[in-house]
Amino acid sequence: MMATEVKSPNGHVVLSFTVENGRPTYSLTYKGREVVHPSHLGLELAKDKHASKGLEETDLMDGFTLLKDEVKEVDETWQPVWGENRNIRNHYVEYLAILPQVEYFRTMLIRFRVYDDGIGFRYEFPQQKNLIYFLIKEERSEFRMTGDHTAWWLPGDYDTQEQETQETRLSEIRSRMKEAVNWGNSSVAVFSPTGVQTSLQMKSQDGLYINIHEAACADYATMHLELVDQQTKALTTQLGGGSNAYTPNPKPSPYPLPQPFTFVSHLTPDATGLKGAMQTPCETPWRTVMVSDDARDMLSSNLILNLNEPCALDDTSWIHPTKYCGVWWEMIVGKSSWNYTDEFPSIKLDNIEWQKVKPNGRHAANNEKVKRYIDFASKNGLDQVLVEGWNVGWEDWANMWKRDVFDFVTPYPDFDIKMLNDYAHSKGVKLLMHHETSSSTQNYERHMEAAFNLMNEYGYDAVKTGYVGDIIPRGDHHYSQSMNNHYLYVVKEAAKHHIMVNAHEATRPTGLCRTYPNLLGNESARGTEYEAFGGSRPDHTCILPFTRLQGGPMDYTPGIFVTKLSEWSDNPSWARITIAGSLALYLTMYSPLQMAADLPENYEKFDDAFQFIREVACDWDESIYLEAEPADYITVARKAKGTDNWFIGGKCDENGHKTTVKLDFLDKGRKYDCTIYADAKDAHYEKNPQAYTITKKVVKAGDVLKLTEAPGGGFAVSLIAK
Ligand code: NOJ
Ligand code: CA
Repeated sequence: MMATEVKSPNGHVVLSFTVENGRPTYSLTYKGREVVHPSHLGLELAKDKHASKGLEETDLMDGFTLLKDEVKEVDETWQPVWGENRNIRNHYVEYLAILPQVEYFRTMLIRFRVYDDGIGFRYEFPQQKNLIYFLIKEERSEFRMTGDHTAWWLPGDYDTQEQETQETRLSEIRSRMKEAVNWGNSSVAVFSPTGVQTSLQMKSQDGLYINIHEAACADYATMHLELVDQQTKALTTQLGGGSNAYTPNPKPSPYPLPQPFTFVSHLTPDATGLKGAMQTPCETPWRTVMVSDDARDMLSSNLILNLNEPCALDDTSWIHPTKYCGVWWEMIVGKSSWNYTDEFPSIKLDNIEWQKVKPNGRHAANNEKVKRYIDFASKNGLDQVLVEGWNVGWEDWANMWKRDVFDFVTPYPDFDIKMLNDYAHSKGVKLLMHHETSSSTQNYERHMEAAFNLMNEYGYDAVKTGYVGDIIPRGDHHYSQSMNNHYLYVVKEAAKHHIMVNAHEATRPTGLCRTYPNLLGNESARGTEYEAFGGSRPDHTCILPFTRLQGGPMDYTPGIFVTKLSEWSDNPSWARITIAGSLALYLTMYSPLQMAADLPENYEKFDDAFQFIREVACDWDESIYLEAEPADYITVARKAKGTDNWFIGGKCDENGHKTTVKLDFLDKGRKYDCTIYADAKDAHYEKNPQAYTITKKVVKAGDVLKLTEAPGGGFAVSLIAK
């Protein structure tokens, strides 16, 4: 059968689709160059004891014919509630393949959207007599790469994405895996010696940037990718050890193994090994392949947001970008504690008379300290103050398989919730709520309504949630269908209470913040906290925008000024970044939620540099990526929403970077007060991280800024229209 070709609006991206020996097959080119070699699409279904009740068991892998297809072009522009740009153009050519599986009298659809910077596709299952309920054993979407690309990857893991990124050729993933999984986290489940996570950023030897991820992952398990290499004998379908260990699948897939350099989708199982319980009509998330010969296009692409559904909330007036500080870093560093007492070996929430217990003297979330943070936020124009450790239960909160770990409504005796919220409001600041669930999700769901009511009562409008440790009940995984449903349930319930959500350790985002813009941020990657757990590489933040940030903003918690933690604590760790580099992150790591993570007293020592954090916006009319290379450097200019002011940030890796910024994006005929926060000549992320210069001048459109970024450094510029 002849393949159908579908071209993107400007013709650069071309999708080919055909049915080859009964199997749906696609391939992709960019400016005439091969990006994805012919790759099969399909799903293996699971056998089930309820099959007699209409549960379908026959795979959706082969036996298909192409009955009919439809092509249409769509060009629309929409406005996000918050974002990198005020307007987002959604321009694509859609191709819908209607695929009957004649022998079984049923039909599957595959919908492709072809953009100038890549494609998305998803499976759709209309309701029909022979496809009502079905269980997914594994999705088998293939992405056959054309060569031994360089890849920036994380080991495939059902529970965490907090690893350092590995940079290797595809052929080296297997040999690097042992080293890559040799790290510590409270919940780790690796599934294959060649399994990797998405968003996966690659670069071909001839300079094509290729990124595989997914969009709109709802009521479905998170997708990983398993690479078929020369040594692959069978695809993995089951988790082996439930820890850092992996064992190959005892029952290999009956379908032929794809060629080496093919990634095959691998879904996260639930506690029973199941990967999806489906009820038609339904569809999978979009699988995305972004491609360009210019790395900047990887960062400016809106493909993933565009593939998500429009905003589902009628009223979004209560949603707002937020800059915050918090009672947080000193606990992460180990100087103070979340828990109030050290008196008990364990806590049963109902049995403790909190007013009578002996305080440990290290509890950070106390009235005096919180007031100090509120004063600091108010003085410096920060919107909110996060307070962790305000609620009872932190004495034995993690890794105990304890279900009733928190009630989310009872403050410790030294945290006067009414007084502190009143005090904050009187100073124009809000407190930011914290709900660590310890991954005891049923406990959280039981208490959530009361917890959100408490927030409404005291005037909180944002919550940071957390999912530390293995999922309770035991056996489920952070990225399974049931857990993904949990995270979205929290976001939807929060919306009813006009509460914004920032979920830590939850599934990596897939653009759902377009549909639910109260999902203001996620962690879902290695954040600044790791600078206190031994540190992250200096190029880490030059990779994240290409990978983790593809699906949505990250609560990275930047802004560490005193990078050697031993200066104020017993922690020997140090952050591999200069002060100017820390400032740059407020631009290069786009997020509507930005923390000033260091201690007030540390900022007070560098008040002239802190001026940039005071001033920088976190919502934008326009963003222009000026230069970018994965793991090397990123430079971006952004225009603050509703103003004529611009901010520019540049961040580089351990090698340093020289850049020339042409200010040709400024309004012609207008003058700007320009403040440049740069690394000093001898600055260095290890040897001299606090050496910076601040230069002020007046500039206009067309002027040029020449900047030198130190190893592990960067720069930040504010341009305030006169
Ligand atoms: C891990 C989160 O990432 C961190 O920010 C938080 O402080 C701790 N969990 C405790 O909830
Ligand atoms: Ca974390």
